[in-house]
Amino acid sequence: MNQEHQAVPTGGQPRIGEYRDDLHAETLEDIQIGEYGYKFRTLEGLMLPPYVTPSRYQVSRTIATRPDDVCYCSFPKSGSTWLANILYLILNDGVAAEDRTLRSCLHWMESSWTYPRGREEVETLPSPRIFKSHMPYRMALAGGPESSHCKYIYIARNPKDVCVSYFHFESGKAWSGKYHGPWEHWLRIFLEGQVQRGNWFDHVLSWWEHRQAKNLLFLRYEDLKRDFEGQLGLIARYLGRDLSDEVVARIKNATSFARMKTTPFSNHTQISDFEGFFRKGEIGSWKDQFTVAQSEEFDRHYRERMAGQSLRFAFE
Ligand code: A3P
Repeated sequence: MNQEHQAVPTGGQPRIGEYRDDLHAETLEDIQIGEYGYKFRTLEGLMLPPYVTPSRYQVSRTIATRPDDVCYCSFPKSGSTWLANILYLILNDGVAAEDRTLRSCLHWMESSWTYPRGREEVETLPSPRIFKSHMPYRMALAGGPESSHCKYIYIARNPKDVCVSYFHFESGKAWSGKYHGPWEHWLRIFLEGQVQRGNWFDHVLSWWEHRQAKNLLFLRYEDLKRDFEGQLGLIARYLGRDLSDEVVARIKNATSFARMKTTPFSNHTQISDFEGFFRKGEIGSWKDQFTVAQSEEFDRHYRERMAGQSLRFAFE
């Protein structure tokens, strides 16, 4: 049996073992360790988790795509798993397969850990396929919307909530070198773009600039929270699907935070280290973490970086 698929009971699903350099990093020479043990590698100038390996990245850039493929992209902690579940259910009449998990229905080519399927296997899978990516536009799967027919969907979330969610997600995890910095440190490196996946502003704006491309749909987490059915309709139309009222109701129910957190199909319990994944699922939980001074400094930085941009976010 493959070392990362050990038989541990998780509702019938194989357990995905913790990230390990020796199993998932591919090369060790280029792994770097920053302050408080923060682990990363750099590819094309971008800080990345060590499980994004040079060869996986090459596969993700060159995988052959089809017009009915969907690739959802985001900066980490922006609601991408929520979107993934919505996409899967749109494409499957609102019904989750009983013998699978959401993770096993997705293809994350840039990652060697948790989604280890290779090019050959993915190329033989039937349509429609759902790809996941956390890359900025210039490093997008299959070259991005300009060179691939695949339908891209980018989801962005207000950066204060992303920063807090990411802090909790990265702290103490094997893939981050068991990062143990205090919140103040995390906030600083987040604003400096010295976290895995780089600078939030560069990432989001790189996709936003291309929002007019016909095979790119740009979404915001806060819109999904506030107008779920409107956004669901938008996504379904983009994918060329007509949803009955019954299927809409099914998807809405199955993708609520409470349901995703407790349903074996979506709750990620088969992945080691993902225990706190479904943390709060709210707009504005940053208020529990930021001091007033930190919030003001963040706002100054945000105003500078977003000056002249028509992109706006709801922070509460
Ligand atoms: P919090 O840590 O703020 O709770 P990603 O999937 O891109 O890593 O994003 C994870 C964030 O999305 C987490 O945010 C998680 O709780 C939230 N999330 C996951 N499923 C959700 C859902 N169904 N509704 C709202 N938020 C959800």
